[in-house]
Formats: sequence, C-alpha cells, structure tokens
Amino acid sequence: MARTPLISGNWKMNLNHFEAIQLVQKLSYELRGHDFDQVEVSLHPPFTDLRSIQTIIDADRMPFRLGAQNCHTEVSGAFTGEISPAMLAKLDVDYVIVGHSERRALFGESDEDVASKASAVFAHEMTPIVCVGETLEERESNQAATVVETQLMGSLKLITNQQLGNAVIAYEPVWAIGTGVTASADDAQEMCAHIRRVVASIHKDASELVRIQYGGSVKPSNSGELMNMPDIDGALVGGASLESDSFARIVNFKEA
Ligand code: 13P
Repeated sequence: MARTPLISGNWKMNLNHFEAIQLVQKLSYELRGHDFDQVEVSLHPPFTDLRSIQTIIDADRMPFRLGAQNCHTEVSGAFTGEISPAMLAKLDVDYVIVGHSERRALFGESDEDVASKASAVFAHEMTPIVCVGETLEERESNQAATVVETQLMGSLKLITNQQLGNAVIAYEPVWAIGTGVTASADDAQEMCAHIRRVVASIHKDASELVRIQYGGSVKPSNSGELMNMPDIDGALVGGASLESDSFARIVNFKEA
C-alpha cells in the first residue's frame, strides 16, 4: 500500500520569528518545482513562530504543513505556560509532535501523558507524531525492541483503531539524536518493521496505513538510503532542518 512519505523539520528551541520567516522563504525557493504530492513536508517551529509562519504559508500559498513540537491536553484553563491543542488547531497546525525523547527525559513525560496528548491532538482534528526510541544502554543490553513496544502500547492506548491508521510514529533512537551517529538503514528498518508489527497486534488494517518516520542525525547523505527502506515512511529531522539547503536536499531524497 502506498504511503506518502512525511518529512518533518523539528526546529526544537531554535530561531526567533524573524529567523523563522527567512528560513521558510529560502526553503520555499529551494523547493520550487518539488512534487508535494509525492512527499509531504511539515515544519515544527517554536510556538512563538507559529503565527508568523502560518501567515506566510497562507499568503504565499506555500505547500508546507505547519506543525508544533508539543501541546497540553486540555482546551483551556489554569495551566500556566501551556498551549492548548485548540489554540494550535486555530493556527492551521496539522501535525503535533508528542512524546519527543527530550520531553520524556528532560520534562518527565510518561507514556500516559503521551497517550493523553495524542488523543487530544486527534480530538482537535490534527495528527500526532508519536515519538518512541531506546537509549544506548537499552540497545546495548538488547532491550531496544521491548522498550519501544512498551512505549508504543502505552502511548497509543487512548486512540481509536481508525485514528491509529492516521497517526504518525517516529522512531528516534536516543543515542542517534543530535550526536551525528545515525542508525544504519538496516537497523532503522528492522525497528520500524517491529513497530509496524506492534501496531498490527492492535489493529491489522491500521498497520498498513500508519506512517513511520526515522529520526536521529538524518542528513542529506543518508536520507535516501533510509527512505528507501520498506517500513520507513519519512524522517523527523532536527539539526539539518535548520538550514534550508540541507533540509531541501533531504526532502529531495529521490534526486540525491
Ligand atoms: P537531530 O536530527 O538533530 O539528530 O535530531 C533528531 C530529532 O530529535 C528530531 O526530532
């Protein structure tokens, strides 16, 4: 079954709204002529940049999807410092990253939290990108597959089978994030195939539809090989998404 690849740029806590506008304009220039029916592209800036980017995407009819990096579960209320999924939906956000390993490790998010967020994102007609991935210690002690399975079962438990098929899962091994060390295409494929089998154990049809991204030091030099793997349907890119040239080359992996 053909799944449209999704390449997402997670800018993390980088770029103010002026810098963000510049990057998006450069990217749009470099990707002119790109067939966005073949590869979908989402941009996940910090919250403070969302409105500026939404405005230029809309005004210049740019073919990018807008994304966020996190959200709260409630629509509104006394949650100082949080951003609600309803607010994101109002800004035409399509994709929300939930359970990124940095949120899990630095801000104490559990699988339960991630499950509530994924469900809240769907409730507001957006799509969650649910992140999972093992640490180096877990990989070296042969626990990677079990850790990822546990994260998946916990993080996907509040969504319906139909939502499951529409979700995006990002496999991001923690040891590959921001380290320059990429998982080999074979290792990434093996884990993404495992993820698809875990999804099939919940709902067979959903496993053929769900898109699975790989993330962790994706660069122009390795994106083609990763994306050619049968169970890898896209990439979640950190550092290399902050430069228009490298991100455009990753998006154009077919021509690389
Ligand atoms: P890097 O591409 O910088 O390794 O980051 C990956 C990541 O965490 C994307 O969410």
